[in-house]
Parts: sequence; structure tokens; C-alpha cells
Amino acid sequence: MSPIEVPFRVEQLDRTPAFVYNLGEVKNRTTFLSEIKNKSNCKVFYSTKPLPLLRILEEMESLEGFSVSSLFEARLAQKACKNRKEIHFVSPGIRNDQWEDISTAASYLTFNSLEQFSYFESKLGKQSYGIRVNPEISFIEDPRYNPCREFSKLGVPISQINNKISTDSDFFKKIEGIHFHTNFESKDFSHLAETLSRLEIGLADQLKRFKWINLGGGYCFDESKDLSLFFGLIDELNHSYDFGEIIIEPGNFLVRDCGFLVSSVIDLFRRDGKYIAVLDTTVNHLPEVFEYQYEPDVWGDACSNKNEYILAGSSCLAGDVFGVYRFEDELALGSKVIFEKVGSYSLAKAHMFNGINLPDVYCLEEDTGLKRVKSFTLEHYMHYYGG
Ligand SMILES: Cc1ncc(COP(=O)(O)O)c(C=O)c1O
Repeated sequence: MSPIEVPFRVEQLDRTPAFVYNLGEVKNRTTFLSEIKNKSNCKVFYSTKPLPLLRILEEMESLEGFSVSSLFEARLAQKACKNRKEIHFVSPGIRNDQWEDISTAASYLTFNSLEQFSYFESKLGKQSYGIRVNPEISFIEDPRYNPCREFSKLGVPISQINNKISTDSDFFKKIEGIHFHTNFESKDFSHLAETLSRLEIGLADQLKRFKWINLGGGYCFDESKDLSLFFGLIDELNHSYDFGEIIIEPGNFLVRDCGFLVSSVIDLFRRDGKYIAVLDTTVNHLPEVFEYQYEPDVWGDACSNKNEYILAGSSCLAGDVFGVYRFEDELALGSKVIFEKVGSYSLAKAHMFNGINLPDVYCLEEDTGLKRVKSFTLEHYMHYYGG
């Protein structure tokens, strides 16, 4: 991935660490998807899980709605759109005590298993109900993130849906839609093509009984070489079946590049022949760095630079390390280090392990510049831990 310009001045932040979200970038992405929507007639929902920040959701005015996986996400989405948009709810964890609230918030509700559907069937209301299918085709090597892994808890295998339809066709009377989500950062719509062909072979004419299909998220529209393949697949679906609605629900694509994490160097020393720069941030704030063991992009880092540092986080965890980076200028205490393209799954997963505070949260508004939207304090920490 190529570096991107930092669109704000770090001196304007009150302190570090700080997440900064560039709303202009979110708007560009949203506009891009609105054009895709206009060309393909797909409905586009923002999957809120990568970055459930109210101000970000408000910026998605031109999309049809939101995809959520919990009551809290649903409530945030309702607040952002003032109940004026559609909400798709899908989760393996629908709770009995939240059913009423979830079903009144949702316009589409997808069940994760046939058993979950049976359990709630007597309580169904006016929403449009769907079933999540597991197409049993894997594009993600890491089983921790692969919804189609062996023994997957996500969705119903196609063969089970087929068996159920042939033995108890009435079972599906109240199910109008079908949903799958199989990709992550997929730059290639051939994965979508393969998944659809798997569905068409597996379900054959039974696909015609569904009124809508939701193709999930995980697509990198900007990096995909061939958008015509996407448009072709949607056309084919429209011609071959009776789907009144085709829905996509990207998350990461809309917010990944809008996010920065600004930190400061708070200690510098040499160990085993390498310089270590300790930052006032930690992998607590970018948990996927630790989970995936990946090195996030840092502004100003280039192989050709001669000042090399291991950038380390400030928790007690030995593996709280971001990686090896090279800068043009030497780092010093107080130097700013800016992580780029960290809009997704960072704030949403950040935590206060070691009692290290969460970063401030800023939005870069297009007309008024940087605005702090959230600061966390000792009171938040005390409140969380019962103090
Ligand atoms: C059901 C579902 N839909 C959509 C998404 C969004 O995927 P992404 O953020 O990769 O676009 C996810 C992410 O895990 C998901 O689980």
C-alpha cells in the first residue's frame, strides 16, 4: 500500500496519543460507493463494526443504511440516521431478552442458523427475515478470520439448507432473504464470482424463492482491478433470479484510509545493537497489530532512510511492538510518529490494558478543521472497573 499525505497539522492536537479521522476521505469513499450503487442498482449498507463512531456514521448520508451485529450498534446507527434509514441485523448472538428491541430497530434480520430461526419464529414481526448461508469456500487463510473454516459457527452450510428445503419446504415460508459474508480485503471479484457460482450449483432453482440477497462485505473496491466483473455479476443475478434487492455491506473499505493514530516518543534507548523508541501509544490501541502480527504503515518511513528504530508500545507486554521503521531524521523525545490507514478495527477494539488511557478522538471536518469529539479520563477507567 502506498503512503498517504497527512491532511492535518499535529501541532493542532491538544495531546497524544490521538486518533484522527479524515471525514473528507469518508465522504470520497461514500460517494464512490453511491456511484457503484447507481450503476448497479445495489443497496449499500455501511457495516458499522470497523468504526462505530457516530460522526462517521452521520457522514454516510448517501448510503441506504447500516449493517449491525448487536443491539448497541443498532442503537448507534438509529441515532446517526435519526431512524430514517434501513438497518440489517446479523449475529450469531441474538438474545431473547433483546429480541423486541433488536427486531424493532431492524428492517432486515438475518438468522445465523436454522435453530436460531426456529427459536424466534413465533415472535416474528413485520421485518424482512433472512438466513445466513455458509458457501463453504475459503478465501482467507487464517482460520481465526475465516467464516468458512471447518466447524464454522457462521451461517448454514448450503447442503443443510438444501436438505431442509427438500424435507420441509414450509420451513422457509417466512424467510425472504439470503446472506453470506466470506471475504476480507478482497481485491478480486473473482472470489465473489466463485461464491455465487457455488450458491447457484448448491441451491439451483431454490435460489429463486428468495426476494433479496446480501453479498456481505470485505471488498476493496478501489484496489480491485476489474470493477466490470462486479457489475457483470450483479447483472447476471438480476437477470437469472427474482431478487428485488441486492445488498452489499462494506465496512473496512469505507473507513480504513481515513484513520490516523498520532503518538509521541517518550523514551529512546539502544538494545542488542538496535534503537528502540517507546511511544505513548500501545498495541492496546491497534489490537490487530498484535492479533495479526502485522506492521502498520507509518508516515515518513522508507527503506532508503538511514535512521532505523524499533517502534514499541508502552505497555508491559513484551510483544507490544509495532515493527522496524526508518526515518529521514533522527527521532528524539517528543518526536511525533503517525500511523496511517488505521481507521478500521482500531478504536472499535481498543482497550485499557495496563491502565493506559485510550487516545483522544478527533474528526477532521471538511469546513472547520480538526474537532475533538471524545477524550477519555481517569473517571472512565474508574467507572469501567467499578471504582
Ligand atoms: C456479516 C458481515 N458483513 C460485513 C462485514 C464488513 O466486512 P469488511 O469490514 O471487511 O468490509 C463483516 C465484517 O466482519 C461481517 O461480519
